[in-house]
Amino acid sequence: MTPSAGEVVRMARDEVIAGQAVYNRTVLAGYDLYVLGFSCRLIWRCPKRLMLANYDRNVGERHLELGAGTAYFPDRCRFPGPAPTLTLADMNPTVLRVSAARIARYRPTTIRADVLQPLPFDDDRLRAGGYDSVGANFLLHCLPGTWAEKGAVLDNAKTALRPGGRFFGSTILSSGVPTTAPARRLMRIYNARGIFHNHGDDLAGLRAQLDARFQDVRVTVRGCVALFEAAAPDDPAR
Ligand SMILES: C[S@@+](CC[C@H](N)C(=O)[O-])C[C@H]1O[C@@H](n2cnc3c(N)ncnc32)[C@H](O)[C@@H]1O
Repeated sequence: MTPSAGEVVRMARDEVIAGQAVYNRTVLAGYDLYVLGFSCRLIWRCPKRLMLANYDRNVGERHLELGAGTAYFPDRCRFPGPAPTLTLADMNPTVLRVSAARIARYRPTTIRADVLQPLPFDDDRLRAGGYDSVGANFLLHCLPGTWAEKGAVLDNAKTALRPGGRFFGSTILSSGVPTTAPARRLMRIYNARGIFHNHGDDLAGLRAQLDARFQDVRVTVRGCVALFEAAAPDDPAR
């Protein structure tokens, strides 16, 4: 029997649970200022306006956001129309409450799920092939595992997208990109605490995962952040 979304969340590995558990109300309250403001610009060397521009270029009318955080980008980005359909998927129930409240004007649907497991596409709230875009911003570096294991997130995105739909986001890499001493130090601390899992995350590996599933792949490096955007294959059988 297929486990329900709640059961999948309960069955997740300890490191997966630890990776999302840090996002409590206090952390979320300071997240936009500290992570998206201070750390992005001064430590990772990638200002958040580049991520927002990535959303503006790629976000569609029916959008699925994987790893919602504070929903800063869905709140600020320009959707193609005034009434987008939004689904927020995250493992952390506090994140889902906070992010959904922030963008309540769009009446988002929320799904509690581990993005490293197949998403519950049999649930009425989530339709395979039903999305114009899927966003995964600052998510992959939080997830434990090799690129092959993190590839499960890209499989979920590909399943969710209509042919030609857009997959996009960004992630902090530890190799294949320029890293400063403060960036390396903070990555070491975050990896040791289980907040990041990016010691094996290199640029070539990210590119290979995207190329294996998507077309028109574009990866732009700014500081130690890779911003990516790609299209689901026109032929869903590919
Ligand atoms: C660093 S925050 C990024 C938030 C937002 N996307 C942004 O760019 O600001 C990572 C988010 O991923 C979620 N997350 C971490 N591991 C997850 C998992 N295995 N499944 C689902 N969500 C997860 C966390 O709860 C958190 O909301």
